[in-house]
Amino acid sequence: MCGIVGYIGHREAYPIIMKGLKRLEYRGYDSAGIALFDGKDIKLSKTKGKVEDLEKKIAEEISTQGSLGIGHTRWATHGVPNDVNSHPHYSNSGNLVIIHNGIIENYEPLKQELESRGYVFTSDTDTEVLVNLIEEIKNNEDIKLGKAVQIALNQVVGAYAIAVFDRTKPNEIVVARLGSPLAIGIGEDEFFIASDASPFIEYTNNAIYLKDEEMAVVRVNRGVSIRKIHDDSIVNPYIQELQLHLEQIEKGGYDHFMLKEINEQPHAIRDSFRGRLLSNQAIIKMSGVEDNMKKFLNADRILIVACGTSWHAGLVAEYIFEDMARIPVEVEYASEFRYRNPVITEDDIVIAISQSGETADTLAAIKLAKSRGAFVFGVCNVVGSSIARETDAGAYTHAGPEIGVASTKAFTTQISVLSMMALRLARAKGTITSSEFRQYLYELESIPDKIEVALESDAIVKQIAEVYKDAKNFLYLGRGYNFPVALEGALKLKEISYIHAEGYPAAEMKHGPIALIDEHMPTVVIATRKGHYEKIVSNIQEIKSRKGYIIAIVTKGDVSVKELADHAIEIPETFDCFSPLLTTIPLQLLSYHIAVMLGKNVDQPRNLAKSVTVE
Ligand code: M6R
Repeated sequence: MCGIVGYIGHREAYPIIMKGLKRLEYRGYDSAGIALFDGKDIKLSKTKGKVEDLEKKIAEEISTQGSLGIGHTRWATHGVPNDVNSHPHYSNSGNLVIIHNGIIENYEPLKQELESRGYVFTSDTDTEVLVNLIEEIKNNEDIKLGKAVQIALNQVVGAYAIAVFDRTKPNEIVVARLGSPLAIGIGEDEFFIASDASPFIEYTNNAIYLKDEEMAVVRVNRGVSIRKIHDDSIVNPYIQELQLHLEQIEKGGYDHFMLKEINEQPHAIRDSFRGRLLSNQAIIKMSGVEDNMKKFLNADRILIVACGTSWHAGLVAEYIFEDMARIPVEVEYASEFRYRNPVITEDDIVIAISQSGETADTLAAIKLAKSRGAFVFGVCNVVGSSIARETDAGAYTHAGPEIGVASTKAFTTQISVLSMMALRLARAKGTITSSEFRQYLYELESIPDKIEVALESDAIVKQIAEVYKDAKNFLYLGRGYNFPVALEGALKLKEISYIHAEGYPAAEMKHGPIALIDEHMPTVVIATRKGHYEKIVSNIQEIKSRKGYIIAIVTKGDVSVKELADHAIEIPETFDCFSPLLTTIPLQLLSYHIAVMLGKNVDQPRNLAKSVTVE
């Protein structure tokens, strides 16, 4: 995915776009570029590298005047990250300039057709094909830019959020979306374009989120006119009041967004409970569940589809749904599910979990499930995201913006929401008693306070990170509810420190991974008192007798594991089913500190992007 930003109005566009690119950099950071209209001509600068590299280049290269401009921060799909493949891209005449987030799948035949008409391409990108297609249509049919964009988009297959303007008519920006997000901020005689609202939050609270297959012409004195790309019907703009605040998208004194987001978890989980978990009244109120209670109670099974960290949250949910509500659950990688002709019936419920709500594989899995008649429930963080809109019902996690590429608060808020769902259904089905239900509610409600305590392990985790930061491999072991946490801990380490790590169910170790154990391979073991404790103690002994080093996550007051382990990190006691919300905290901190000590870019790890809107 990429970040796009644009401005048209009465202010200098450059500082707005540059700041916007920095805020959108979580979406892609292998190259960046800006095109500004200075009143006479387009000034364009782009470069491989980060937005700060672009800023330096611009200072040497172009003037930054003008109140119309577009900018882009890229996560490469077509063509390696280099200066030429960076966006914006000119059309052959130099009149049109475009930025694009997404993929044009049929760009090859379109490119050949345009080449046969004399068009020359300088980059390897699909985007340069699109801008020339628009130019060809515009010139041939002698029509306005908006119409040409519309005709061109009817010829392309793929996904896009685009913004394009014409040097010869510099009073408008044309934007469109299909499968990639696009917001238009509405100011007083000024408009902001962006992949999300963060670039313009200090200028306006009013925004239009384009829906799929919509395009808009944004003109300074005439406002925003929206149409459906395919049938040309006019769409009445729906202006939304934003709930986003500036402090939510700033680091707030932390060195990295990841650390800020790890520390925000108590607050984020309280937000996910607000108005839903009412322990004094012994109630869980979730309208998405309540309104569809019959469906949930009659469901043959629940299928969970997700990717990455959200998939790990799905695994935790599998345990809790089966344990509490006695509903059979299967958890699927969305990327496999979508392509393997799964058996889905109208009596299945599909729960799609996604922080961003934009993950292409998860979206495709939802569409497949819906086409087979299943009821699809979304658990998303980003309000108004594609998945939130595509699903039949859902529950937001209310984690607030997660900017660090490594998911942290998204994971724990997803588990919080899914736990509330499982408890609500368990109560409705009568698989737990009312007194058990009450106890679960009180315990779940206490989790944010307990996370605050778990966060106090930061100093000891940092010392442990210092000892093991140069290890080349790590093993993570957990059982039951904490097996998914072992997977998640390993993923966190891999993605931000580039150290190889594997997560395993602890008992599986003897079926293979034990061969890896020696004095060079640290093992992180989740050994809480309520989760198969004796068995985990045996697993630890097996590792110790092969000279392996153990970092154990233990319950406060633990004795046996502490005696065996080389390092122990204590977390407060809780019910086994809620323990992932606590055990994951030291693992997040461990990966964070190791990555920082190794000098890695924690918030923007190589090759990754915050949400994966391509296959
Ligand atoms: O936005 P989503 O939750 O759908 O994203 C799914 C994965 O791409 C995401 O969880 C990814 O694995 C994270 N980088 C993990 O930290």
